[in-house]
Amino acid sequence: MARPLALCAALALLALPHLGHASIVTSTPPNHAHFDFVVIGGGTAGLALAARLSGHPGISVLTIEAGRDNRTDAATQSLLEFGGVLGGPLDWSWATAEGRTIDGGKTLGGSSSINGAAWTRGQDAQYDAWNALLEPEERAVGWGWSEDSGLLHYMQKSETFHAPDALQRAQLNASHSVATPVFLALKSRQK
Ligand SMILES: Cc1cc2nc3c(=O)[nH]c(=O)nc-3n(C[C@H](O)[C@H](O)[C@H](O)COP(=O)(O)OP(=O)(O)OC[C@H]3O[C@@H](n4cnc5c(N)ncnc54)[C@H](O)[C@@H]3O)c2cc1C
Ligand SMILES: *[C@@H]1O[C@H](CO)[C@@H](O)[C@H](O)[C@H]1NC(C)=O
Ligand SMILES: *[C@@H]1O[C@H](CO)[C@@H](O)[C@H](O)[C@H]1NC(C)=O
Repeated sequence: MARPLALCAALALLALPHLGHASIVTSTPPNHAHFDFVVIGGGTAGLALAARLSGHPGISVLTIEAGRDNRTDAATQSLLEFGGVLGGPLDWSWATAEGRTIDGGKTLGGSSSINGAAWTRGQDAQYDAWNALLEPEERAVGWGWSEDSGLLHYMQKSETFHAPDALQRAQLNASHSVATPVFLALKSRQK
């Protein structure tokens, strides 16, 4: 029953009730449609929020995005193109008082559609140190690391991780050496 809808420059994502958790992307504003939630901006945070809201049965969501749907265009697909989109039509290129520009994705997916695709986290101790800066009565808001109630909990709720498959693992082996002095490894998680 979930109905997410995004309107993109307008582009819109709309899901039909009988499709379950389905969505539609359209540039045509829906007439006389009502939604439980309207999310402005179909970028990283907006789409994560809209997807989570629309995961609730019977909840309909409209996401309005200023850019277009460029998900299949080379500019958003290829990391080899990274940097090539900056200053172009998919970049807001906000002007600053100093004459520099600030980049930001103006397309469905927002800045995640034009970014470097590195998905990183800080260290647990850094988030806990950040949390300690809050007033004591504010610390329950969960800016620390905790898997139960802190930022790790929310990071995990926002992402779907695809572990390297057999082909990728073989390619990693093929493109790295095991006989050199500089050691590389994926770190095991320690509680
Ligand atoms: C060039 C570049 C490289 C980066 N590289 C990395 C990286 O490698 N790793 C990393 O972790 N982070 C990287 N980042 C940062 C990361 O991509 C952003 O921090 C993140 O995507 C921001 O998410 P957001 O939801 O706050 O904003 P965005 O994802 O930018 O979403 C905002 C959305 O709102 C839309 N919008 C704005 N105004 C309106 C309006 N009035 N009406 C409707 N829609 C509107 C925009 O078009 C956009 O789609 C990079 C950012 C850039 C710009
Ligand atoms: C983005 O998508 C729009 C609409 O399909 C298209 O006109 C435009 O050329 C695309 N931009 C890029 C850089 O691919
Ligand atoms: C990668 O190399 C390691 C070490 O030589 C080996 O144990 C492992 O089976 C290899 N994995 C793949 C997918 O080739």
